[in-house]
Amino acid sequence: MTLNKKIMKTNIYRLILLTSVLFFTKISFGQDIKINVDVDNPVFEIQPTMWGLFFEDINFAADGGLYAELIKNRSFEFPNPKTGWEFPGQNFFMSNLLFINRGEEFNNQRYARMELDEASGESSMVNTGFRGIGIKEGDEYRFSILASIPEAEEIAIHVELLDSNDETIGKTTINLKDKDWKEYEAIVTADKTDPKSKLKLSFEGKGTIEFDMVSLFPVNTWGKRENGLRADLVQLLADMKPGFFRFPGGCIVEGRDLSKRYQWKQTIGNVEDRKLNINRWNDENSRATPDYYQSYGLGFYEYFLLSEDIGAEPLPVINCGMACQFNTGELVSLENLDPYVQDALDLIEFANGPVNSEWGKIRAEMGHPQPFNMKYIGVGNEQWGAQYFERYAIFEKTINEKYPDIKIVSTSGPMSSGPFFDYAEKELKKYNADLVDEHYYSSPQWFYDNISRYDDYERNTYKIFVGEFAASSHQMASPENKNTWGCALAEAAFMTGLERNADVVYMASYAPLLAHVDAWQWTPDLIWFDNLTSYGTVSYYVQKLYSVNKGTHLLNMLTDGEPLKGSDGLYASAALDKEKNEIILKIVNSSDTKQDLDIALKTKKRLESNAQITVLSSTDLEAMNTLENSDNIIPTESVASLNKKNLKINVSPYSFTLIKIKSN
Ligand code: AHR
Repeated sequence: MTLNKKIMKTNIYRLILLTSVLFFTKISFGQDIKINVDVDNPVFEIQPTMWGLFFEDINFAADGGLYAELIKNRSFEFPNPKTGWEFPGQNFFMSNLLFINRGEEFNNQRYARMELDEASGESSMVNTGFRGIGIKEGDEYRFSILASIPEAEEIAIHVELLDSNDETIGKTTINLKDKDWKEYEAIVTADKTDPKSKLKLSFEGKGTIEFDMVSLFPVNTWGKRENGLRADLVQLLADMKPGFFRFPGGCIVEGRDLSKRYQWKQTIGNVEDRKLNINRWNDENSRATPDYYQSYGLGFYEYFLLSEDIGAEPLPVINCGMACQFNTGELVSLENLDPYVQDALDLIEFANGPVNSEWGKIRAEMGHPQPFNMKYIGVGNEQWGAQYFERYAIFEKTINEKYPDIKIVSTSGPMSSGPFFDYAEKELKKYNADLVDEHYYSSPQWFYDNISRYDDYERNTYKIFVGEFAASSHQMASPENKNTWGCALAEAAFMTGLERNADVVYMASYAPLLAHVDAWQWTPDLIWFDNLTSYGTVSYYVQKLYSVNKGTHLLNMLTDGEPLKGSDGLYASAALDKEKNEIILKIVNSSDTKQDLDIALKTKKRLESNAQITVLSSTDLEAMNTLENSDNIIPTESVASLNKKNLKINVSPYSFTLIKIKSN
């Protein structure tokens, strides 16, 4: 054999070998998974409310969180008026600081009285805020106080911001000359950043000063609204473009007993006249939040305003005459239910009534003559048993009679299955509830196992509001229970099931929404914050990707004629956005291997040649975002080319991929 022939023969062997390797590789590692998306035949409409927010004042979400007030117990209404305050150098035996009670008939019962004379020692007091006061270098802070000097010519209040070493990092002075009660205000600029600052007041002069409502707000609140909400936190919410905003809870709607229930009428009007209430999550026996009260500075008017600001439908929930059944379960008798029902009717008037109606007038006086156009009301939170339905029936009848257009949200209780859930499901069919609120806090596996939960739900009764859900890796509300990628991925997979069933699931929201790193009672939570900063968990990014890309209509997305519900670890759903002319695909790969997909977009439309790809992924299911490493897992963007109307793409192990293709 010549040398040339030998080389040729070897090359032929090599070619055969290579072809066989390629052939067997394909067999053993699988073909591309073929997926068809039927773009031209939308299945049904997806509600604009589909993905939204559930807000509850838990984990310092309102006072100490979203409500930007930095002073805790500003009005001395906590059971101990001194809570949150320190009195350096004060000679207590002289009692030069008194707390005067105006009387039970006042919502704001107490104010402080300080006698200034030589015997009093240093007359100063320090507020330690909500686990410290977050102060930023260069930022301005609005200090205000209600005060009178009935028995003095002139008294000065020196206002100082102290850092955590008690060094002054900002100061101003207010001079009081007026005998009558009056509001004083001054702006303090900080020259240092410290998340654990304090506010010190020192009084100078001779005689008596009386004061109340000691307040400090950042000037830079959301939308620069005076004494408003924390800008970074609202921004995170607004970025989600939520379809609805459910408030004010959760268990706090119910209260541990009925006297502690959330009463919206106590949360409107002048802030100094809003009656302090203990928070349902105030619990001295658990994670040390015995100082948890609701000032209601963030009340129902502000919730409506916030909903409007972030473009979400307001969904207030009211007490239905039952206290939290996990606590006392106290009930109001049916004969005494009227005031509770009246509260619901008055709330609708407050939100929507004309300015000459009793409650519409109050809304107008607070600054919003235009109605808030509220469309939904929740009756009860997580109630269960016959007592709920007896009460619910009365609410439903009365609200329907007076406001037939208002949609009522009922509840199926705290369980996602079992006897209470089954009973509620049976009972609910006797009524006309528009939506039923279902809650589930469960393991990631539960979320994968329940991917088809709504496939067989009846279509001709009420719609579903998944009002609270979150995947938990450990015991709920325990410190080990973290917002891991494994949990977020399971939520993303489960949400394909919600989207595929958007003809019955009209609303869904993760819960809880916010948590202060130093004062939480529940885990996991969507957004964590300290006194200065905040970050979105990986679950936040999943919720945001869904919410911002909800589309207007569901599309069929099938492999072998079936939706992707877990085979090969793949879960998927597809939507069309008719307004933006956009096809939106959501694909979860829950397996530990890369999957090659061949997606055929069945359509007569012309498609743009590039698809926009957004991916959230990590090979570490325990990975998470933290305050220190807040962008550990965040969406990454890329572009992929279509081959005519086909897209070949591989989805990485443990990933959530969002694909957007424009048609024109
Ligand atoms: O989200 C935390 C709590 O969980 C809510 O207050 C309650 O509705 C549920 O039990």
